[in-house]
Amino acid sequence: MAQHHQDFDPTQSETFDSAWDQFADLRARCPVAHTEEMGRFWALTRYDDVRRAASESATFVTSQQNVVPKVAFTGRRPPLHLDPPEHTPYRRALNPLLSLTRAESFAPVARRYARELLAPLVAHGGGDVCTEYASFLPVQVFGEWMNVPDHWVEPLHKAGRAFILAVNMNDPEAMKATSLKLYDMARELIELRKVEPRDPASDITSALLDAIERGDALQEELILGMVRQVLVVGIVAPTVVMGSIAVHLSRDRELQNRLRADPALIPAAVEEFLRLYTPYRGFARTAVEDVEFGGCPIPKDEAIALVYASANRDDAVFPDGSTFILNRPNIGDHLAFGRGPHNCPGIHLGRMEVRVMLEELLAATTGFELAGEIVPARWPEIGAISVPLRFTA
Ligand code: HEM
Repeated sequence: MAQHHQDFDPTQSETFDSAWDQFADLRARCPVAHTEEMGRFWALTRYDDVRRAASESATFVTSQQNVVPKVAFTGRRPPLHLDPPEHTPYRRALNPLLSLTRAESFAPVARRYARELLAPLVAHGGGDVCTEYASFLPVQVFGEWMNVPDHWVEPLHKAGRAFILAVNMNDPEAMKATSLKLYDMARELIELRKVEPRDPASDITSALLDAIERGDALQEELILGMVRQVLVVGIVAPTVVMGSIAVHLSRDRELQNRLRADPALIPAAVEEFLRLYTPYRGFARTAVEDVEFGGCPIPKDEAIALVYASANRDDAVFPDGSTFILNRPNIGDHLAFGRGPHNCPGIHLGRMEVRVMLEELLAATTGFELAGEIVPARWPEIGAISVPLRFTA
């Protein structure tokens, strides 16, 4: 039976580059791949297949398993864990708070944090772009966006980072413990807003509580889950993308110098970097009926990973897909932020954070290069989680 074969091993040790090479191989050799590891799952690696599974949400649901490996041990968390129509009111509350205008209004704050974080690295002639820079900035910006008390930023960074490391080491006990800690923070935030409500136009927790009062189909217990999910989901991706960009630019000094000399190119470069270094390979769906992709059957009720990172390097859609090419004519087709009802509501905030981090890193340095070993991210992410840099003349 097809579901018992092993087309690839997602647990094998990887380097930063081999992770991407594995998907290039699968796209060519076995685009609908199966593995018995990580609780067994199918991996879609071609663009058209990934896009189809993300778009056809009635057939491919997230309510059974939304990520590979399965890390949700501590309850249902909207919006990711719910399917439409149950999913819809949560997105209705979330989307306006993450509009382009609103996301960009946080750019000055992001820039201030970026400069503060970079100052000690500049003083030391380098540092780890992920652990000392890119993993802090999204938490700080996020803290502002969620209006969390100032003294939460440090514990939030610690808990968020502990959760990411636990997921990367595939340590369920540690995942559970850190997830519960994040739940405690979410619970406290909800209680705080009940006592001191804020403007729902600028506060997600108040917006959710408000929606319940108006009779929208939200449940209080799921609000807790959503605040908990949002506490972590917006923190990981920008860190991993920034790490990957730092690796790329360390290797391509010409591009690094070009972007530094002409910052107007940076927004387009960020978009191409998001395609080339899409940070997710493990978002998942489960088919509610038997399905077929290019002649390959997948039985219903089996987990399917939508490997966005692989789809975005598919040469059939992005010619020479593993190469950085500025201003690709169809760059708008990339799937770094997903597709369909679960597409990323944080697209503008995430993009802004990566852009500001890159602008400030380039502005603060005259050059940088790799100064040690890159630590690659594990499923469900792909990219780098530690990149030591040396700043050069
Ligand atoms: C570079 C930055 C980011 C990238 C590449 C990214 C990518 C993604 C992707 C691919 C999905 C789709 C998941 C799926 O198909 O199952 C997603 C969902 C999501 N993202 Fe992001 N994300 C980023 C930043 C953020 C930020 C800053 C936030 C913060 C608010 C955020 C919040 C979410 C949420 C809540 C979902 C679940 C949406 C739903 O299920 O309806 N993301 N993200």
